[in-house]
Formats: sequence, structure tokens, C-alpha cells
Amino acid sequence: MPSISSLSAKKWTQRAANTLIAAVSFLVFFLLDMLDFVLCIVYRLLDYFLEGNSPPCYCENRGEQGMNGGIERQDGVSETLYGRKNFFRDLGLLRMSRIRRNCRKMGGPVTPRWSDCGCDSCNAWQKNKGKLHLVVMEPPQATNEDRSGNSVENVIFLHGFLSSSSFWTETVFPNLSEAARLNYRLVAVDLLGFGRSPKPGDSLYRLEDHLESVEKSVIETFQLNSFHLVAHSMGCIIALALAAKYPNSVKSLTLIAAPFFPSTTEKASYTALNRLAQRKLWPPLLFGSSVMSWYEHVGRSVCFLICRNHRKWEWILRLIRRKRDLHFVTIDITRHTHHSAWHTMHNVVCGGAKVLDDCLEVVNKSRAQVTVIHGDKDKVVPLECSYNVKLKVPLAEVRIISSANHNTIVFGREKDLARDLELIWYSSGIQHECM
Ligand SMILES: *[C@@H]1O[C@H](CO)[C@@H](O)[C@H](O)[C@H]1NC(C)=O
Ligand SMILES: *[C@@H]1O[C@H](CO)[C@@H](O)[C@H](O)[C@H]1NC(C)=O
Repeated sequence: MPSISSLSAKKWTQRAANTLIAAVSFLVFFLLDMLDFVLCIVYRLLDYFLEGNSPPCYCENRGEQGMNGGIERQDGVSETLYGRKNFFRDLGLLRMSRIRRNCRKMGGPVTPRWSDCGCDSCNAWQKNKGKLHLVVMEPPQATNEDRSGNSVENVIFLHGFLSSSSFWTETVFPNLSEAARLNYRLVAVDLLGFGRSPKPGDSLYRLEDHLESVEKSVIETFQLNSFHLVAHSMGCIIALALAAKYPNSVKSLTLIAAPFFPSTTEKASYTALNRLAQRKLWPPLLFGSSVMSWYEHVGRSVCFLICRNHRKWEWILRLIRRKRDLHFVTIDITRHTHHSAWHTMHNVVCGGAKVLDDCLEVVNKSRAQVTVIHGDKDKVVPLECSYNVKLKVPLAEVRIISSANHNTIVFGREKDLARDLELIWYSSGIQHECM
């Protein structure tokens, strides 16, 4: 019976291949566990000698309350920060090698830290009194009412992880129609810890910290009582939290590639971490994000090499490409500290997953017009996330863009997106007047 034997041979090969992949992946992550463990000790010593103290990391305290010398659990801090498994750490080795701490606050008082970039442009925020960096495009002489008595509407744009306001100002802004420019005040935000915005070393970059910074810098500054929201990726989490806090002010909510995993349980943050940064070797993008999200100290080393030396890298890239101007994505990707990106990844992207259900319930009850846009080739945020939004907000409109991925959902279709956004803002305005 040749067919059965060939079938079993095929099965056997498949099984062998799977075992091999599993073995290699086990080995790689085992080595990364070890590397992170070693780097933890190296950074403790370096921090101690270079800054006079070594602020606690998330290695030694696995979330047990009140461990002396560890970090006390705080509200809004994601379990994923403590609960990441590491073979060596789980043996309890770090508890034995503890250095006495004299600073209990995260990040410590030194900003920038020795492992962060100290250039003028990265630290210009220290003179800005804590406000976020905004790029505002508004009709000439805009007040809250224009000359003919029509009110000028406001649109707040929130970018995703490792990005900045340029994500919108370099794409959608120049493609908006003249009419839109005369009727809307457009505010693109650099989120806390990114772009040209403040990157405080003592913030935990919780969802509420991001929310508060947008409220202070945008809503209070312009005294907004009505606005539209447009957000990409991680920005959608902040946009949803903002919409839930101001349900009567939000006219429309446009979520592009929103990472929403339904669940109100404690496990939601782990679901988000495992879905967005699964510990896998392939594809490389997933491997990269899993290393950066699972390994605090390996991630800090990558930031040390790339972000701290961004001027050198940019110089090299300019030389190779023989162009004076680099693409804004290349520039934005290094404009953070490890502290700001690491905490935002865990406390907003993972930890935020726990509150999104509640936010969506509030949004569902509000009159905000919700539009969800997603590319069907998105490898970063699964397409199902957008359908999940629809389950919570039945009136939401889901638009799937064929052959667009996480970035080409905006890049390359700027004109279409700008036109769609104008229609959304315009029609939500009409809807409001009718009600
Ligand atoms: C639309 O945006 C793209 C990308 O920034 C730009 O190349 C193009 O010139 C813009 N179109 C207009 C009409 O400004
Ligand atoms: C959304 O709101 C509508 C109308 O207020 C309500 O009938 C519906 O049950 C809500 N849906 C969910 C999933 O909460």
C-alpha cells in the first residue's frame, strides 16, 4: 500500500520539520532569556556607577505585593511588565544579586539617562513646560467661530507606536481640499514620549498619563467642546479612551488598524501581548517586536545602539542614499527613549486592552459616528480586530482596503484617505444637526 506509506512519510517529514522549528525557536528564546538576564546585571552596575543609583526594573519583582526593594504595583501598570516569563529570572537568581537601592522611583531623576540621546533636538522638550508638541493647521484668523458665524470644527490626529505627528502632516494634511482647510482646525499630536514631545524619565506612560497629556495640551489649550478624532494603530487606544471620557464632544471617530481584542478579564493584556508580539522567529517583523516587548534589557540595548546614536545612523543613511532629506518614518522611529517606548508598549498597547470594552460601550451609547478602516494585508494588527469593534458598536462602518498593510493603509493612498476623512467629518456634522 504505497499511498499510506507515502502519506505517513509526508506526515513524518512535517512532524520533523515542526519539531525542528520548535527546537530552534526554544533555543533562540532560551538564549535571549539568558542575554536579558545578564544584561539586567550589567545595566544595574552601569546605572549604579554612572548615575549613582540603579532604578528597579521589572525583573526581580514578579508582581508580588510589597517585596522590599521591588516596585510596588500601581494602577494602570500592565501585568505584562511583571508577568513575562524568563527561565533564569524564574529561578530567583536576581533576588540574590540585588544591589541596594536608594531610588525607588522608576527611571530615576536623571533625564536624559546615560543610555539616552543627549542631543539638543531630543531634549528641546525640557524647555516646553511639559506640553506635548503639536502641529496645528487652522483657517486664517481662526477663532472658535469664523467670520460668517459658522463654527470652525476641530480634528485631533493621534499617531501609532514609534511615530509622530508627521505621520499625518506629511500624508493627509497636504492632500486635504481647500474647503476642508477653511473649515477645520487640524491638530496633529506628538504623543507623550515620542517625536518632539516630552519624554519624562519618571512617568510610567500609562493610558491615563497619555490621556491627561492630550487633554492638557489640546483640549484645554484650544478649549474644545466638540471635535473629531482620527487615529492609527496604538493611537486608536488613546482615541477610544478619549472618546469614552468626552462622549458628548466627539462627533466622529475614525480608527485605522485599531488593535482591539475583546475581553474584560485580567488576561486581556496578555492576549494583546501574545497577539501583537508573539514569541516567534518568523516573520522577522514579529521576531523584532517580540524581542522588543519581552526583553526589557535587550530592548534597552537596541535603543542604546539605534536611538542614542540616531545622528550617526542618519548621517550614514544620507550618505548611502545620497539624499539630504530622510523619510520622516526613518527619523520618527528613533525619537523615543527606551523608557518611554517600553512602558507605552506595555501600559497602553497591552494594559489598555483591559479597558477598551468599557470604552467601546460608552462610544456605542454616544452619538459619535464610528468608522473603522483596516488593510486586509495587515500583518501587525489582525483584521479581526476591526470586526471586533463592529460587534461592540453595531453602527460602526467597517471599511476593508484590499492589499493594504499596516502602513500602506495610509502611505500611497493619502489622497483617498483625505477625501474619505472629509466625507466622514462632513456627514457626521449633518447627522448631528438633524438630531
Ligand atoms: C498627497 O500626499 C503625497 C504624499 O505626501 C504627496 O506626494 C502628494 O503630492 C500629495 N498631493 C497633493 C495634491 O498635495
Ligand atoms: C449599542 O447601542 C445600541 C443603541 O443604544 C444598543 O441597542 C445596543 O445593544 C448596543 N450594543 C452593544 C453591543 O452594547
